Amino acid sequence: MLTNTTFLITGIADKQSLAMYVAKEIIKQGGSVICTGLGLSSHHSNLSEKAKGFLTKNFEDFKKSVFDELGDVSLEILDVTLEENMDSFARNLSKKNIQLNGFLHAIAMDKTIRNKKVKPLLEVTKEEFCDTMDVSAYSLIRLSHYLLKYNVLQTGASICSLSYIAAAKVTFHPYRNISIAKAALERITIELADELGRSDNIRVNALRFSPYMGSKAGNATLNEEDVQISDKMSPLRNAKPQDLAFEVVHLFRPDLRITGEIRHVDGGYHITG
Ligand SMILES: NC(=O)c1ccc[n+]([C@@H]2O[C@H](COP(=O)([O-])OP(=O)(O)OC[C@H]3O[C@@H](n4cnc5c(N)ncnc54)[C@H](O)[C@@H]3O)[C@@H](O)[C@H]2O)c1
Repeated sequence: MLTNTTFLITGIADKQSLAMYVAKEIIKQGGSVICTGLGLSSHHSNLSEKAKGFLTKNFEDFKKSVFDELGDVSLEILDVTLEENMDSFARNLSKKNIQLNGFLHAIAMDKTIRNKKVKPLLEVTKEEFCDTMDVSAYSLIRLSHYLLKYNVLQTGASICSLSYIAAAKVTFHPYRNISIAKAALERITIELADELGRSDNIRVNALRFSPYMGSKAGNATLNEEDVQISDKMSPLRNAKPQDLAFEVVHLFRPDLRITGEIRHVDGGYHITG
């Protein structure tokens, strides 16, 4: 049970987001959540009208989905590309005396995948490479940094991030650019597990999940065929979002001594092929 615990949940876009399943399970198990969504903040500058419109709508959708699924929980805008946003976000939590028992990093972005087509690595620009790395991997370091800077993340907290098998090997859906960022995310997980375990008794783990088309990110990248192939190859068939939620919540338990793990919640896909 997660009674008297509070977790920060990033990466909810709508009710199908993997992070939403995790948030729901935390609440079911007696914990509380603070959810962040990508939106227009006072730290954004020089944005086009189109970009402003996108961020505003994104946050409205996020707000409605969270209210419908979780009820009246605490919500914040968070764009991990903006250091000032992360800083003021963590500072505000501290001002409200919020103490976190951990957080879920469920954030990824790769503009080199468009209409389910993947740009060959040789064509990926430095900007595309760095943007994907920044949002999908480096943000785990920075978010941890600011939450610790303002003493929001408690001693003994648990951090989980979401990855997938392509971080380690080329699969039937070779997402070149984001796969490299996921490899970095996993490495960051391991380095942080060592650093934060020693300094603050904080655990850091990553979970590799099955392909899932229900979410915005999944739907924009995967084909039905990918999901079917993976389902056939997995001894227990593809894992479902609820399987992932159970495992994250397990890793969020305060009494575990598990860290630096790259967990597979994939129905056993990783042992095949
Ligand atoms: N869908 C899958 O098949 C699958 C499989 C394994 C792992 N994952 C991982 O799970 C995580 C969640 O993905 P999902 O499938 O639930 O899709 P999703 O689209 O619901 O979630 C992706 C989230 O990233 C957020 N995001 C993007 N840029 C951001 C930024 N600059 N600042 C803050 N937030 C930002 C989006 O707003 C969105 O909420 C991702 O890390 C993804 O790579 C997904």
